[in-house]
Amino acid sequence: MSLIRKIRLRNPVSGQDFFTNNNVFLAPLAGIGDRSFRAMTKRYGAGLTFTEMTSAHGLANRNRKTLDLIKISKGERPTGIQIFGSNPEIMNIAASVCNEYPADLIDINGGCSVKKVMKTGAGASILGNPERFYKIVKVCVDASIYPVSVKIRLGLTEDRINVLENAEAAQDAGASLLTLHPRTARVKFSGKAAWEYIGLVKQKLKIPVCGNGDIKTPADAVRMILETGCDAVMIGRAAIGNPWIVKNTVRAFETYPDEADAPVPSKEERIQCALEHLDMIVTYKGEIRGIREVKRHLHRYLKGIPKVSMVRHNLFELATKDEVEHELASLLG
Ligand SMILES: Cc1cc2nc3c(=O)[nH]c(=O)nc-3n(C[C@H](O)[C@H](O)[C@H](O)COP(=O)(O)O)c2cc1C
Repeated sequence: MSLIRKIRLRNPVSGQDFFTNNNVFLAPLAGIGDRSFRAMTKRYGAGLTFTEMTSAHGLANRNRKTLDLIKISKGERPTGIQIFGSNPEIMNIAASVCNEYPADLIDINGGCSVKKVMKTGAGASILGNPERFYKIVKVCVDASIYPVSVKIRLGLTEDRINVLENAEAAQDAGASLLTLHPRTARVKFSGKAAWEYIGLVKQKLKIPVCGNGDIKTPADAVRMILETGCDAVMIGRAAIGNPWIVKNTVRAFETYPDEADAPVPSKEERIQCALEHLDMIVTYKGEIRGIREVKRHLHRYLKGIPKVSMVRHNLFELATKDEVEHELASLLG
């Protein structure tokens, strides 16, 4: 009995739909989940990926930097554009701007707990008022040709957990998928994700539910599906510099209930992957920015490789693609 599922997502207003490739998704990751990283995880089997969160205001104003964030390459799809905002009118315009870009899904951010975002009433702040949340989802469903999904937390604080109300509001407004990261905004990432809420939401909703939070191994992902009954899993931090977790999770789902061996990537494979990532990020972002940003990933790619500490140290000093390639290649010798 395989745990692999393709999930059908549909916009009830436009009628547009698509199937995810499987039910192992890559989380939206600001500062990390750009085109190059999404393409790497897609290559390792991600069934659906998401852009970094993009400001609805920036989209509505056609801010060049914001529009850059929603550029999606052919090879990485299916991909959802994640937007954050609090004003239904602006969200409506933002969703229509997204119609001009090739994508598969619009995802509404109801989970960001960063102060700067919450202060504007966006991110997890929108969970404080389920009626307003309904409105935001509804205007996006009406404006978008693409299906719309939401990604939410449990609520604002432990004494204001209103996840079921918000989940039903999203479903009633026409959302086609709900992802739950079961922590409150207040705790940010501390403590343990309360997976039992994923199960509660799954029981309540008719639309597919994706579970997220604290998946560190393929076995965790299998356990999340079995314990909560969720339709899909979403992996965030554990995929950084480690796209193999996606491949091994897909494999564990395919072979369930047999325990799949999770092949550990060889040193050569890790370095090859880092080099390809480097190449893509420099192509998309140019050398200066690409080198600066790829360093967020490299230490994770190199994890577990013997005698790597000197190389890691040197990498931080390097400024050109040639230099980084040379340093990485030195590990192969
Ligand atoms: C560096 C970083 C950036 C993130 N950016 C976003 C984002 O843009 N949008 C979003 O909905 N969640 C964002 N998140 C939250 C993740 O998508 C995910 O919900 C969270 O990391 C929990 O999943 P995990 O335990 O698998 O990492 C971010 C998390 C991290 C660590």
